[in-house]
Amino acid sequence: MDAHPQSPTRSKRTLRTALVVIGAVGVLAMGVWRLWPTSVDCASLVDRGFLPVAEERDHRFLGKVKEDTASCRGGAKAVALRGSPWVDWQNYYGTGDGSSRSMLDVQNTIGVLGALSDLEYQRIELIRFNLWDNNKTFSQYVLGRDGAPGASLRTWPEMRLPTTHPNFTDVSRPGGEQRCGGELIRFRTLTGICNDMRNPAMGSTHALFSRMVEFEATFPDAANNQLAKNRHGGRISLLQPDPQVISRKLFSRIQSDAGTCRAGLGLEGDAKGAQCDYQKANSFNVLAAFWIQFMTHDWFSHLEEGHNAPELMSTGCQGLSAESAHALGCRADDKVDRAYIADAGPPGTFDVRGEPRLDRAYQTTRNNVTAWWDGSQLYGYDEASRERVKRDPKDRARFLLVRQGAGRYLPVLGPADPMHPAWKGQEATAFADNWNIGLSFYHNVFAREHNAFVDAFRRQQAQTPEADCGLRHPSRPDQVVRYKDVSADELFEIARLVVSAEIAKIHTIEWTTQLLYNEPLYLGMNANWSGLLGDKDPQAASALRKVVAHIGESERGGRGNALYSVFAAGPGIVGLGSHGADPNGGVNHFGSPFNFPEEFITVYRLHPLVPDLIEFRDLRGDPNAIRKKIAVAKTFRGLATDQMRSGGLANWALSMGRQRTGALTLHNHPLFLQNLPMPRLNTRTNMLDVAALDLLRDRERGVPRFNEFRRQLGLKQLTGFDDFIDPHLTKDDPARAQQVSMVGTLREVYGRHRCDARAVITDAQLNDDGSKINDCLGHPDGSMVDNIEDLDTVVGWLAEFTRPHGFAISETQFHVFIINASRRLFSDRFFTSSFRPAFYTQLGYDWVNNNGPDGKVVEKGKPNGHEQEVSPLKRVLLRTIPELQAELDPVINVFDPWARQRGEYYALTWKPRPGAEADEAFKR
Ligand code: HEM
Repeated sequence: MDAHPQSPTRSKRTLRTALVVIGAVGVLAMGVWRLWPTSVDCASLVDRGFLPVAEERDHRFLGKVKEDTASCRGGAKAVALRGSPWVDWQNYYGTGDGSSRSMLDVQNTIGVLGALSDLEYQRIELIRFNLWDNNKTFSQYVLGRDGAPGASLRTWPEMRLPTTHPNFTDVSRPGGEQRCGGELIRFRTLTGICNDMRNPAMGSTHALFSRMVEFEATFPDAANNQLAKNRHGGRISLLQPDPQVISRKLFSRIQSDAGTCRAGLGLEGDAKGAQCDYQKANSFNVLAAFWIQFMTHDWFSHLEEGHNAPELMSTGCQGLSAESAHALGCRADDKVDRAYIADAGPPGTFDVRGEPRLDRAYQTTRNNVTAWWDGSQLYGYDEASRERVKRDPKDRARFLLVRQGAGRYLPVLGPADPMHPAWKGQEATAFADNWNIGLSFYHNVFAREHNAFVDAFRRQQAQTPEADCGLRHPSRPDQVVRYKDVSADELFEIARLVVSAEIAKIHTIEWTTQLLYNEPLYLGMNANWSGLLGDKDPQAASALRKVVAHIGESERGGRGNALYSVFAAGPGIVGLGSHGADPNGGVNHFGSPFNFPEEFITVYRLHPLVPDLIEFRDLRGDPNAIRKKIAVAKTFRGLATDQMRSGGLANWALSMGRQRTGALTLHNHPLFLQNLPMPRLNTRTNMLDVAALDLLRDRERGVPRFNEFRRQLGLKQLTGFDDFIDPHLTKDDPARAQQVSMVGTLREVYGRHRCDARAVITDAQLNDDGSKINDCLGHPDGSMVDNIEDLDTVVGWLAEFTRPHGFAISETQFHVFIINASRRLFSDRFFTSSFRPAFYTQLGYDWVNNNGPDGKVVEKGKPNGHEQEVSPLKRVLLRTIPELQAELDPVINVFDPWARQRGEYYALTWKPRPGAEADEAFKR
């Protein structure tokens, strides 16, 4: 296992050219010509040219650049920080707030473009080294098929529908091929089949999760190979180190007034005097926290209708005396249902250069919703979930919404609806589990948005019934479809396409740019959606789009994939291939069928985002005043529905829009989630510690521990817990003292051992001198070292105190997003070649592109130096909750706390904007 099995050997010239092109596109996009070279270091960097892309995974770039590159892009600070394990680009000019900017604009541009090029290298490497499909296609990826290189494959027999599938005959062609057509390709299907017309089963409900790490590195607890044995020395298992002990010692929020917090439940009558302390993120609000839960329910779920496998298991707090358990607050009697496993039998093997390799992970798991970004949490992913979706009997194109006070809301689940008994009393919607006020908010908003689109279409239909609506039937592409020809069922599905694309756009250019609040990520995420060129140069964008299409068709293998990724940044991913004849021609899976990897779920365990109490405000009175503090626990499941209806969408929007979310760090898990009532389990406690469960589930599903996780992703390893301490902080900074203390707790919980330099622990990377990485991680043989290899991945990324500016998440999590955020666009026909009026209608297509009806609307001023359209979610909220007009007027990004003064260039300060000086949230 000394190298990644996929080792492309072709020339790197074209790829280097591509990277030059991306540099040029960036320069074009940012309008700077006069910038190069500005110093001796920049000159030597230009002389050397672009870094070659690694051909073997132990030569990966690791986010670290040479000294002259660091100096050119970030000066002395960037050079000084090169020794840390964290990525270099965060120290370049212009990548932080105003203080990171040089007096010379040219240097800021070099810094930001440098960061973008580092990020593109990371994406290329992740595409090349981190796609591990569990469906037995991996051997084809490595060895190729019928003479074609594996990375160039576009169809897989494993992605065919089985003979038992109800649509088997619809898609089957002579010779065993399958190809979707007719009604199956017009819209997003219920179970997600036929998104890729040539791989009908890809991304559909119940498909297997993939992996981002080599199969041999999965399930480290089982010590299946010598590397895993050496890495963990028999120290780890499902309950070791104890998940509940970790939860209580490292995750609990520390309270200054535990009496009024009452473990997250607040005071009787939701009294405002309650206080539950939490560490807050200044530039991210509670709406952002619930947005991501709303998203994850669309992308993945391990659970089936609210439950896991039948057998119960312990969740920790074992081996402690009753007093110690009580003092810690853990519960030895908690139990939970085990995770589902799809296949626990031994994996097969195949030979690569004489060595046996696994053809899948040691065990596999299923994604029980569609993997596509298709609004399946709203519209359904199987028969039962779709039955919960209620359509308006008066116009079946619309969602049924019932009048409640001044507004309309989703109806409640009825006795005939398929559901888990725990969901009784909550709103009727496809994905119903872990329902709470935030999910109720988004489900109601997007049901209203769906209806807003239908209403606009209906108005157009009434005005111009004979006109061409843009829609085409794929089997009759030349036949015009008039507005009046569109049936209610078709319109429902068109609205689903539109709403799903709006959601994807909001997530890509609004949520993510606030989650990762700095200039390179603003540019990078906008590039993912609409290209670095955006609207600045439509001709250049169109030319690049053609180049990408050409590469997609002609280049084969790893090199073609890298080129494709790089060039796509010019015109953007969305709409790729949409001008060609083939509605499937624009998808690119990079040689590996698309589904989310198990590691993706790990990095979305974002429970610390959730506060214990929501500061409730009333829009009709003084929005600056906090009226009540409502425990999120009192909005769990059916309680959310009552709270939503009594509080009203507008007040909940205001309350969650103004309140800061929790920071993703240690000692910041909601207390109520450590004590979550779970009567469905029928155990002695009927409770769950969700923070402990986050660790347990990752262990059950074989996610590698933090340090190996980083090595596998192409990031630098840590050599001990001290590496977590932020090197940017001065010795006397109080934040540093806190970090030192937390590092002490990590050491206490995870322990130390005497190391053995003969024990090689990984083959994912090598030491800088080319030697193998061993148990001592550079420390003297036989010395006591931290058990850093045992650190659970979630604990590790929460402990990453060093982060790029404005990052609400850690760099480790971010690297999982880099590849999956673009892959779910690249792989989806409805965001690439089928993103066209023939599928969306002209009204729908324009609605997505312009963030609503009536053309583009531009925001006042130039936020962070950019001319910007009014953000897509702001437009949605203005349509669906018009009462918010005045409150939203100064808001640039709906996920930035609404009363915060955004200030200059990516400031993170917590100061009120004009008019909000009296807001109580700024008094503490
Ligand atoms: C009131 C708020 C929330 C509640 C009550 C809640 C509850 C839970 C529970 C009970 C589980 C465990 C399921 C199991 O494995 O048996 C879970 C899993 C999870 N939660 Fe939350 N959660 C909340 C908010 C969030 C938020 C804001 C996020 C942000 C992304 C999130 C992300 C996840 C993820 C990724 C999983 C794993 C899902 C899977 O394995 O398929 N949760 N949550």
